[in-house]
Amino acid sequence: MSFPTHRPRRLRRTETHRRMVRETRLSVDDLILPLFVRPGEGVEEPIEAMPGVFRRSIDRTVAECRRAADLGIPGVILFGVPDRKDPTGSEAYAADGIVPRAIRAIREEVGGLSIWADVCLCEYTDHGHCGVLSGGAVDNDATLPLLARAAVAYAEAGADVVAPSDMMDGRVAAIRRALETADRADTILCSYAAKYASAYYGPFREAAGSTPREGDRRGYQMDPANAREALREVALDLEEGADLVMVKPALAYLDVLARVRDRFDVPVAAYNVSGEYAMLCAAAERGWVERRAAVLETLTSIRRAGADLILTYFAKEVAEWL
Ligand code: PBG
Ligand code: ZN
Repeated sequence: MSFPTHRPRRLRRTETHRRMVRETRLSVDDLILPLFVRPGEGVEEPIEAMPGVFRRSIDRTVAECRRAADLGIPGVILFGVPDRKDPTGSEAYAADGIVPRAIRAIREEVGGLSIWADVCLCEYTDHGHCGVLSGGAVDNDATLPLLARAAVAYAEAGADVVAPSDMMDGRVAAIRRALETADRADTILCSYAAKYASAYYGPFREAAGSTPREGDRRGYQMDPANAREALREVALDLEEGADLVMVKPALAYLDVLARVRDRFDVPVAAYNVSGEYAMLCAAAERGWVERRAAVLETLTSIRRAGADLILTYFAKEVAEWL
């Protein structure tokens, strides 16, 4: 009954037919470009472990947002790299902090671009943890009001989307409530719902200077061995008022992404993180893989696993190829 009646190769013989039966498409509409913003003017600092990625001052960030928008990229996500860090990360929620100022400048200059703001304390705390410490441990409940203040500060500056990445329990509810109170009910909340304690954040921590001074993040980020727990995290964040959910990192967690896609009917984002970017850049630089083919295959796999949106440092070059 099968061969020679069935010959699956028939549909693969020409590019025209491959194109017609292709199940997954990568589009510029799916891409979000992460940007690191620092104080100063005319500053563009390369990040060693992330070739082609920079820490930029606000003026240069605005110019980069303009280029991204011109390429058709619908959104950017901002990470602040402040000059000043302290135990409670106060630059994260200062109304005139680096991220609110960047949001206002981008909002004014680049219409139509979706501006996302990462909400976390680790880039702003001197100890490098995602929350405030008490007795050497990250204090979940004491961190919540600070995250809510940061989200409100970004929303008031004009962010379209706030994206908490700290993994404190209850932060989505705290942020959603604070946005309502601040008369910012329209602000979209994308929670990093399933964020793993991953080795693939290394280059990001160099970029943001956010490596914990002591200890690690395994007390709040998820254990890489767990998938069912991700479904529980997503369910809780949706109950608390998230509009979109994220799985992070992407590549070592494609199974988690597929299960989240299967179980929930909300848009799902995946973060193709710094270590994933660095790994591919390094292999391509040595000529060990072909950059363009490997990048497109990788991002397609993230879409195929179920992501609607992909946060990726490759966004601009991919937009040029598509
Ligand atoms: C902050 C944050 C991190 C990333 C996004 N938001 C780092 C971390 O949790 O240590 C990682 C992004 C990347 O690696 O590209 N909480
Ligand atoms: Zn953090």
